[in-house]
Amino acid sequence: MNPTSVRKAVIPAAGFGTRFLPSAKSLPKEMLPIIDTPTIQHVVEEAVESGITDILMIIGKSKRAIEEHFYPNLDLEKELSDKGKIEELEKIQKISGLANIHFIWQQELKGLGDAVSYARSFVGNQAFALLLGDTLLGVPGEGAAVTGQLIEVFCQHGQNVVALEEVPEEKVNRYGIAGGDWLSENNAVLKIDTLIEKPSPDEAPSRLAIASRYVFRPEIFEYLANTPRGKNNEVQLTDAMVSMMADHAMYGLKLTEKRYDIGNKLDFIKTNIEFALRRDDIGPELRDYIKKLAEDL
Ligand code: G1P
Repeated sequence: MNPTSVRKAVIPAAGFGTRFLPSAKSLPKEMLPIIDTPTIQHVVEEAVESGITDILMIIGKSKRAIEEHFYPNLDLEKELSDKGKIEELEKIQKISGLANIHFIWQQELKGLGDAVSYARSFVGNQAFALLLGDTLLGVPGEGAAVTGQLIEVFCQHGQNVVALEEVPEEKVNRYGIAGGDWLSENNAVLKIDTLIEKPSPDEAPSRLAIASRYVFRPEIFEYLANTPRGKNNEVQLTDAMVSMMADHAMYGLKLTEKRYDIGNKLDFIKTNIEFALRRDDIGPELRDYIKKLAEDL
């Protein structure tokens, strides 16, 4: 199978963003900028870099800014063009040309598993990538896109693949945690035999957390349709994956990339500082400012 054969991606972005209230009341947390670019644009760019051409975003109330961001704004384009602001013009024209992007509303917030199930008819009978809209993996533009790496593993095995990140023991209760056996000598690909959503450290089969990127066979929808509400009274994607594992193998690719979780305050600030320091236009001045601030405070 050709690694570029996974062409569709699903990006759920319907959650309330309670850790970002009051901002998230009307501003989708996925639109929070890393310097000047919304997180979800970076996520879409990762998908496109991985060979994805069609994307379905699962959104909901107070998420309309996401739709607006990915549609052309002809008035703004004209204004920029009239004023000769060509660099800015190209930046905004690029966004609406990234992929064919579609939107659907999750009617009731019943969990990630429920959100993903809205993609069934969009996906049809093909494998697809799933990218959570509030997390970046690696620095955009540097190294191979993580979704593309998962697609390669998918094409080798023809079976489901998730990204895995090793987390400290005290954080295992925030994630889906995977157990299993390493397939390769370099401990990169895990054949998963156990998955538990947000376990206590005692229950956790390892410290390997599902890290916001998946490639699924389309059969996942059959299992989602039969998954009752689980942890936190939500339909958990991880529970559907557990049922699916009885019939279809599940692999995990251990990431070497750093994960930037924009959905929590501290990591959001850290990501902005790190990405700003990497930039030529504002990095040097910010570096001096932070040094001085650290001495003064
Ligand atoms: C979701 C998944 C969880 C996964 C996490 C990060 O949890 O349910 O298995 O580890 O995303 O990818 P959430 O962050 O929505 O609570």
